[in-house]
Amino acid sequence: MSKNLKVFAPATVANVACGFDVLGFALHSPGDELHITFNDSGTLVLHNETPYELPLSPEKNVTAVALQAMLDALQSRQGFTVTFLSKIMPGSGVGSSAASAAAGVFGANELLGRPFTRRQLVAFAMQGERAASGSAHADNVAPALMGGFTLIRSYTPLDVVPIPSPPVFATVVHPQIEVRTSDSRKILRQEVPIKKAVEQWGNVAGLVAGLFTNDYDLISRSLHDVIVEPVRALLIPEFYVIKQAAIDAGALGCSISGSGPSIFALSSDEATAHKVAQAMRRGFDHVGIENHTFVSPVNKEGVRIKG
Ligand code: HSE
Repeated sequence: MSKNLKVFAPATVANVACGFDVLGFALHSPGDELHITFNDSGTLVLHNETPYELPLSPEKNVTAVALQAMLDALQSRQGFTVTFLSKIMPGSGVGSSAASAAAGVFGANELLGRPFTRRQLVAFAMQGERAASGSAHADNVAPALMGGFTLIRSYTPLDVVPIPSPPVFATVVHPQIEVRTSDSRKILRQEVPIKKAVEQWGNVAGLVAGLFTNDYDLISRSLHDVIVEPVRALLIPEFYVIKQAAIDAGALGCSISGSGPSIFALSSDEATAHKVAQAMRRGFDHVGIENHTFVSPVNKEGVRIKG
C-alpha cells in the first residue's frame, strides 16, 4: 500500500444560480494540491507551503477537521502529515475550503485502502465547511469529490445525486476582493415568500431537467436565482453590469459563484465562453477593479491522485 500521495482537488461553482446549498459543479482548474502521508504520532500534523495564511491547528483547519471526522467514523488513531502545496485563493467563491477538505479525506481514504466511496466521503468533508463558515453545506464538497454536477437532494439524511450534463463551459471572473462565506450567509433573509419559492423551485427542477436532457434552452431559461442573488449582489461591485455583459455575449446564464465574489457564466461551447470572459472582464476593467478570469469545462472526475 502506498504510504504517501499527492492529491489535486478542483475548484467548484456552488448554487449554480437557483440551487442555493443544493447544486454545484466541478471545474478543471484552479484547485488545491496537497501531499499526505502516514505518521506514527497518532495526530494530524499540518505544514503550509502556499502563499496564503492557513490556520494550522487541527481544530481550525478545514482539512484536519474533515479528516478527523473520517478517522472518528473508523475509530482509527492513525496519524497523518499533510503539506499544503498550492491553494485556491481563500474567500474567492470557487470552493477553496471545500477543495482542502475534499483533498484531505480523499487522500487519507486512498492511503487507508478505500474504506469509503467518494459519495460517503461527502459527509466528512462537509464538517470542514462547518469549521470554515459555520454551516455544513455540501454543494461544493460533493462536486469536488465526485466531479460533474451534483444535487444535494437532502441533508438529513444526506442524499447526494450525480447529475449528467451536456458539454458546458464555465467562465469565472474573480474580482480581487474577499467575501467571507460566513458573512455572505449572515445577510440572507431567513424567510422566503411563497411566490419567490415557487419561481425558485421551478428553476431548480428546470435546470436539472435541462442537464439530463441536454436541452440548452431549458438550462438557459432556468439559470435564475430570485432569492439569494438579489441580496448578495450588493456585495459585488458592478454585478448586474457584468451579468448583462455575459448574457449579451451569448452565455446561457450568469450568477454569483457560491457565496461570491466570483461571478460565473455558463456557455454551450468554448469559443462563446471565451467571448463571455472578455465581456465580463471588461466590466471590471472599466471601473478599475483588478480581476482574474478563466474558462473551464466541467470536470467530470473530481478529486484525483496527482502523479
Ligand atoms: N451554498 C454556499 C453558499 C456555497 O452560497 O453560501 C458557498 O460555500
